Amino acid sequence: MWGIIATWRMAAEGVGKAAEILKNGGDAGDAIETAVKEVEDFPYYKSVGYGGLPNEEMEVELDAAYMDGDTLDIGAVAAIRDFANPVSIARRLSKEKVNNLLVGEGAEKFAHKEGFERKNMLTDRAKIHYRNRVKEITAQEIKPYAGHDTVGMVCLDEKGKMTSATSTSGLFMKKKGRVGDSPISGSGFYVDSKVGGASATGLGEDVMKGCVSYEIVRLMRDGLHPQEACEKAVAMFDRELKERRGQAGDMSLIAMNNKGEWGVATNIEGFSFAVATENQEPIVYLTKCVDGKCIHEPASQEWLDDYMRTRMAPLEEK
Ligand code: GLY
Repeated sequence: MWGIIATWRMAAEGVGKAAEILKNGGDAGDAIETAVKEVEDFPYYKSVGYGGLPNEEMEVELDAAYMDGDTLDIGAVAAIRDFANPVSIARRLSKEKVNNLLVGEGAEKFAHKEGFERKNMLTDRAKIHYRNRVKEITAQEIKPYAGHDTVGMVCLDEKGKMTSATSTSGLFMKKKGRVGDSPISGSGFYVDSKVGGASATGLGEDVMKGCVSYEIVRLMRDGLHPQEACEKAVAMFDRELKERRGQAGDMSLIAMNNKGEWGVATNIEGFSFAVATENQEPIVYLTKCVDGKCIHEPASQEWLDDYMRTRMAPLEEK
C-alpha cells in the first residue's frame, strides 16, 4: 500500500506528482519532497515558498521540515531567506548527525555551502499584498495575523517507509525571527513508520502548545484509526485552549497510518486537503467538523475552478 495526504487544496498538484512516484515503487522521501517543492515553486500561493507573504520588515522568512519515519531523522530550517526550496534543505539537514535544525543566517550559510538554489522569494504580488495590508492596518487597526496556510504532508511508500514534511512562510506580518510550529517536531509534524504520521496547519503559537501532531501519532499507536485520532486530538485541544485561554487559534490536522488509512480534523470552516492512495486517485476534499465529528466531501468542480480563479486574480494596489 502507498499513500500521501496533504493540507489544503494548494497541495493537489504536488500530491498528483507524488502519487506517480509512489505508484512506480518510488521512495516516500523523494515523493514528499517533490510534492512540497511543487507548492513552494508556485508563485500564486501566498503562504508557502516563492510568493509567500513577508514579515513586518517586508522580508520573506521561510520555515520547513522533513522527517523520516524509519530512522526518525529530522531536519528543519527556520526564518531562512532567499532559497527556493526550504524543504530540500530540511531533508538534507535530516542526514546530519547533529545541527539538524538551523535558523536564519546559519541556515542560509549551510544552504549556500551545499549548493542549494538561491532565489529572491519576494514577488511583486507579495509586495502589493504587503503595502495593501499596511494601509489596512493603519486605516482600521485590524490585527495583522490573519491568513496562514502551511503545507504539511504525510507519505507512505510501498516498502512501508513513511515521511512527513512541512513548508510555510508563516504568519503574514510576523515579527522578524518569528518561528511557528512547522519546523518544530511533534507540533507541525511527526512520523513513525511503525505507526503513522500527522502534520498541522494553523496558528503555530497554539499548535505548539499541544504538540498536536505527536499527540495524533500517539493516539494511533494506542490503536485509534487516523480519523478518530485526529478528531480526538483536535477536539480535546481546542476545548482545552478555550477553557484555559478563552479562545483557540485555527488548527487543522491531517494524518495517515502505515496501512494507508487516513484522517483529518479541523476547528475552522472550509478546510481543504488533498489525498491519494493505491485505492484512491488524487482528490481534494472539504472538511466540516461538528461536535468533534468530521465529514469530508469531495470539492466540486465549481469550487476548484473558483479556488484557482481567486488565487490568480489580478491584484490591485489599494
Ligand atoms: N502554522 C504555520 C505557522 O504558524 O507559522
